[in-house]
Amino acid sequence: MSLLILVISLVCLLRIHDCKTNLMLSFDLVKFSKFTLQSVTKRYRVSTVKPIKRMESLKMKLSDRLSGLVLPVNYNLKLHPNMEKGTFEGHVNIHVNVKEERKHIYLHTKFLDIKNVKVLKDNKDIPVAKFFEVAQLEQLMIHFEQALPAGHYHIDIDFSGSLTKSIVGFYASRYKDRTMVASKFEPTYARQAFPCFDEPEFKATFDIALVKPKGYTALSNMNEISSVHDSKTNTDVVSFARSVPMSTYLACFVLCEFDFKETEINTNGIGDPFTLRSYARKGETQKIDFAQSIGQRATEFYIKYYEVPFPLPKLDMIAIPEYQSGATEHWGLITYRETSFLIDDATASTQNRISVANTIVHELAHMWFGNLVTMKWWDDLWLNEGFATYMQVKALDAIEPSWTMLDQFLTKTMHSVLVSDAKLASHAIVQTVETPDEITAIFDAISYNKGSSVLRMLEGFVGEENFRRGVSDYLKRYKYGNTVTQDLLASLEPYFKKDHPDLNLTLIMDTWTRQTGYPVLTVTPGDAHTLVVSQARFLLDRSATYNTRDNQFQYRWFVPITYKTNQGTSKRIVWFPNEESNVTITLSPGDTWCKLNNNQVGYYRVSYTEEMWGQLIQQLKGKSEQLTLSDRAHLINDVFALATAEYVSYEVAMNLTTYLTVEEDYVPWDTADTEFVKLASRLENSLGGEGLRKYVQHLITPLYKKQSWDQTDIPVIQKLLRVRILSLAARFELPQAQSKVRELFLSWLDSRGTAGAKDMEPDLRSIVYFYGMKSASQAEWDKVWQLFLEERDPQEQQKLRHALSAPANTNILRKYLTLAWDQNNVRTSDYLIVVQYIANNPSGRALIWDEIRAKWPEYVKRFSLNSRYLGNLIPGISSTFDTEVKLQEMESFFSQYPEAGAGEAARRRALETLRGNIRWRETHEPTVTQWLNDYLTNL
Ligand SMILES: *[C@@H]1O[C@H](CO)[C@@H](O)[C@H](O)[C@H]1NC(C)=O
Ligand SMILES: *[C@@H]1O[C@H](CO)[C@@H](O)[C@H](O)[C@H]1NC(C)=O
Ligand SMILES: *[C@@H]1O[C@H](CO)[C@@H](O)[C@H](O)[C@H]1NC(C)=O
Ligand SMILES: [Zn+2]
Repeated sequence: MSLLILVISLVCLLRIHDCKTNLMLSFDLVKFSKFTLQSVTKRYRVSTVKPIKRMESLKMKLSDRLSGLVLPVNYNLKLHPNMEKGTFEGHVNIHVNVKEERKHIYLHTKFLDIKNVKVLKDNKDIPVAKFFEVAQLEQLMIHFEQALPAGHYHIDIDFSGSLTKSIVGFYASRYKDRTMVASKFEPTYARQAFPCFDEPEFKATFDIALVKPKGYTALSNMNEISSVHDSKTNTDVVSFARSVPMSTYLACFVLCEFDFKETEINTNGIGDPFTLRSYARKGETQKIDFAQSIGQRATEFYIKYYEVPFPLPKLDMIAIPEYQSGATEHWGLITYRETSFLIDDATASTQNRISVANTIVHELAHMWFGNLVTMKWWDDLWLNEGFATYMQVKALDAIEPSWTMLDQFLTKTMHSVLVSDAKLASHAIVQTVETPDEITAIFDAISYNKGSSVLRMLEGFVGEENFRRGVSDYLKRYKYGNTVTQDLLASLEPYFKKDHPDLNLTLIMDTWTRQTGYPVLTVTPGDAHTLVVSQARFLLDRSATYNTRDNQFQYRWFVPITYKTNQGTSKRIVWFPNEESNVTITLSPGDTWCKLNNNQVGYYRVSYTEEMWGQLIQQLKGKSEQLTLSDRAHLINDVFALATAEYVSYEVAMNLTTYLTVEEDYVPWDTADTEFVKLASRLENSLGGEGLRKYVQHLITPLYKKQSWDQTDIPVIQKLLRVRILSLAARFELPQAQSKVRELFLSWLDSRGTAGAKDMEPDLRSIVYFYGMKSASQAEWDKVWQLFLEERDPQEQQKLRHALSAPANTNILRKYLTLAWDQNNVRTSDYLIVVQYIANNPSGRALIWDEIRAKWPEYVKRFSLNSRYLGNLIPGISSTFDTEVKLQEMESFFSQYPEAGAGEAARRRALETLRGNIRWRETHEPTVTQWLNDYLTNL
């Protein structure tokens, strides 16, 4: 990619054409720039390098984007994988509609060996002058001797490819001694399976045929319509029904020897009933009952919610042993990582269930929102991902209300992105992207977490039923089509206008989606029982400088303010237009305190005067009924961020946490847990660290005493609270918890594999394995490593993989890292997670940092620069760095390897975090340490 940039800037210097999108280049320059030499097929060779000046007579458009003038209508695709050889043969016949006369057609291809290209009109060959591949653009270029008139054509291509090159595209996956074939195309990997117009707007129908060995099952988006046996090769050619129009990234092909379970979906008259099937490896089907149950109920929920029939005749879900991401919403055939799908009642924790359920309902939401109606281009990815991420909580709230997912939205989704979005290195929700690296990089917290937070805020002021109706109208209006953000807003607008005739919904939402970051509202008492509210961009580094004129809204937002007082929740929304410098809230007689942003539905922070914070802390301590558990979580979350950014003293933040001795709900504790863990890593190895340990022990003791280490039958949310408190106790080394954990760990380890061994309660496993391993000897570690290698259950494997990273002994961690690199021990799709685990351990941090710098080229080779997971590893492993030395090391590492691929923004984030950590230590550490000291002395 950086090579391409180099060429672009070269051309810009020559002032030839607009450089951004319609870059014009000659073949000569393509040759000149060297980047395609190896990819130009034998059929076409550029023989002379003409002088650059001759580029005036350019003939060819070079762009990452395909022309909109050649539209695929149908793909007739046959794929024949050969699992023994690890290769596949393919044939595709693409029916295209050429809208305007032209001499060339470009489409996508990557890593494929293109053997033959024919273009036909009415079954007659059209002479092809040459075809060749430009690897840098991942395109196949077909040039004709004479211009093609507008009209319908068929492009017929024979090709072959590798199944073992990566774990995206079309690939083979091994498990035990078996092999299966699967695919993962989102966002730009369909082109690795077949030449295609690989952009979401090019929707077409698909006639898919897969060749499979006998005994295998072939699956694709649609239902099977025929299977023809070829006795010579002992294979079956399985053909599937023609698909509805869909984007290439949603196509999916699987060959496996799995079993399944099925259920009928009750559509309540909205469309025909259909079958939902869940697939897993043979012998594992008892682990799909949970997914099947969630899947069935969520699908029925969505049909009612959207009021749109499920668009396909069947729906399958499948757990794939080697899978790059958590899951992908392939239409009619949703693919999952095993840990995101399989639940073994005997070993899975409550948290495992909730997380599997979340993934399933997320992917199912896409079957309509995303698949039926798709973003025009990846710029609007947030619409897909933000929406599905928000629907997760709505669907689960409907089908499992006792899980209180609406409150958990704060800790699962919103709080983390409020941190990353308070950095200069963040980006706007709607962001221009062009290249595959840029596209994969925006599958990030901004698209998912901020996208969903902003939609939640929108629903908050539009109203739940209005929001649903707008979404339903939108799906009906644009089905099988593509949209931009504005299309959703236009569908919501009539419902919004009913209650807000004077406001402009597009303007309001544009301020949230088209500029980076979010505001902090500063509240000060005004005249005569009023509050004056002003706004400013919230940055964790308050001294950071940026140009406010670099976007049209100048970092001001159109803010819906909600609030409550001691007398209850105000029904009114106070609108704070981006162009006003402040707004006034008029309190009622008798209002003694006020809290803004009910349940933290608004995507902003609120800063009060110290006196007002004091009042709120009193309310928290007095267990005010007005403050919901989301309000309490919100206050904890805000006060720490505001203290870091120096809007309020750290003393106030610490003062606020003293109320936790009376807090008994999960979500506020989960919020506090995050803050304490962050604080602990900032204070590591300092006096403050010891103080914090004692302080947290003090806070949790009342609630710890109410928990049991024995299995108890309690509601789900109580189970989550119990695990949170017990793990905080272990994390902050409460002596009675520490000894209990070690005792449970050793008795588990000793009895494993012996007759009568008692299994440990699933909810305690993560805690006991991990904290039990903290002080493990090499012998104990080796034993757990063996258990890990022998373990077959993916959730259990994952807990053990985590536990293996716990020891305080760096030599053990070094051994772990070496063993994990071998993919016979740890799968490629899990390896980077192990690296992150070890880096989270203070004893492993330096080890990982050295490893990454020393072996970076090997990492790039194994995972590719296009992997956002590799890109995100850098901010991940360096998140606690807080010295100038580390800053220099990081800068020199980046300059040694300037190509960041999809990890470009991640590098900037990492640097900004590191500088922030240095600043934090200098600015706040003394205050926090002093506060802890004073508090503990007065206990
Ligand atoms: C609403 O705001 C958008 C974006 O600022 C603007 O383009 C549009 O003209 C506005 N509509 C009306 C009716 O004022
Ligand atoms: C609020 O805005 C008005 C109008 O711009 C201004 O005159 C006033 O000083 C502002 N008040 C505060 C407290 O900032
Ligand atoms: C923190 O709480 C203590 C004890 O209640 C109080 O004396 C102190 O003023 C508070 N600090 C701030 C900055 O509010
Ligand atoms: Zn998604």
